[in-house]
Amino acid sequence: MRVISFANYKGGVGKTTSVVNTARALADEGYKVLVVDLDPQGNSTLTLSRKNPFEHENTVGRLLTEKDLSTAQCLVPTPAGVDLLPTNLNSYPLVSTLPPNSAKRIYGLKNKLQDLTGKYDLVMVDCPPQIEGALITNAIAASDYYVLPIEGESVYALQGVDHLIQTIDLIRDDTGSDIRLLGALVTMVDTRTSAGRVVKEAIDRYFKDMVFDTVIRRNTTINKANLKSMCVCDFDPKSMGCQDYRSFATEIAARINSFRVKS
Ligand SMILES: Nc1ncnc2c1ncn2[C@@H]1O[C@H](COP(=O)(O)OP(=O)(O)O)[C@@H](O)[C@H]1O
Ligand SMILES: [Mg+2]
Repeated sequence: MRVISFANYKGGVGKTTSVVNTARALADEGYKVLVVDLDPQGNSTLTLSRKNPFEHENTVGRLLTEKDLSTAQCLVPTPAGVDLLPTNLNSYPLVSTLPPNSAKRIYGLKNKLQDLTGKYDLVMVDCPPQIEGALITNAIAASDYYVLPIEGESVYALQGVDHLIQTIDLIRDDTGSDIRLLGALVTMVDTRTSAGRVVKEAIDRYFKDMVFDTVIRRNTTINKANLKSMCVCDFDPKSMGCQDYRSFATEIAARINSFRVKS
């Protein structure tokens, strides 16, 4: 079982879209996938379960804070063919009331995921748009890899990336995690515009071979699918968005396998 966090302290860069659609595409390829929604906004919870996040009683927030609640009690099978640990806004107050020195603030997720060894090939964590805090610390402590989604059209795309990577490295060292960058995923790209090309070149220079070859093109079908709380491949299997996430799923699986052989 490999745990992969999708992290960027910025909101709106395509973390949730990438988690749900990549998870769905990997499930289609035969992988057993679990999505952990660590962003209390519950966007991936809504899209994957197709239920209002507040309808989920056994949330990640409760799982991380209640000793006697088991992971199995929180798992939700979804129409997308992946399982989900759901969340909602109630998770914020639950996690933030943990005492500062509580091990659950750091290792809650890691410990609870241990119950699932053998049940999943991949666990994909949708992180909140934060650079620090109990939720992101839990994600880093529990993960083998992280993917950094970067908005390919924003001239501010790389702003703060140094700081983000350094912070993840610090939390990694503090928590004894082995987390490493799996790659940067460029999202919402429009290489037909000069701005899009300039940003993509800057990202390539910065990350070099750590940029995934697959880019997720800007595609209104993705937005329409999100508005209907659907995976893009369920909404329109022929769309560019569905094709891009299928290619990305193949690439990410290959990269995990090649990292595993090397390390
Ligand atoms: N490739 C894309 N093309 C068009 N719109 C996209 C694309 N990826 C994401 N979006 C839209 O951008 C917004 C932010 O995406 P989201 O995945 O929620 O970001 P995050 O989880 O980082 O906040 C959403 O409205 C989503 O529908
Ligand atoms: Mg999100």
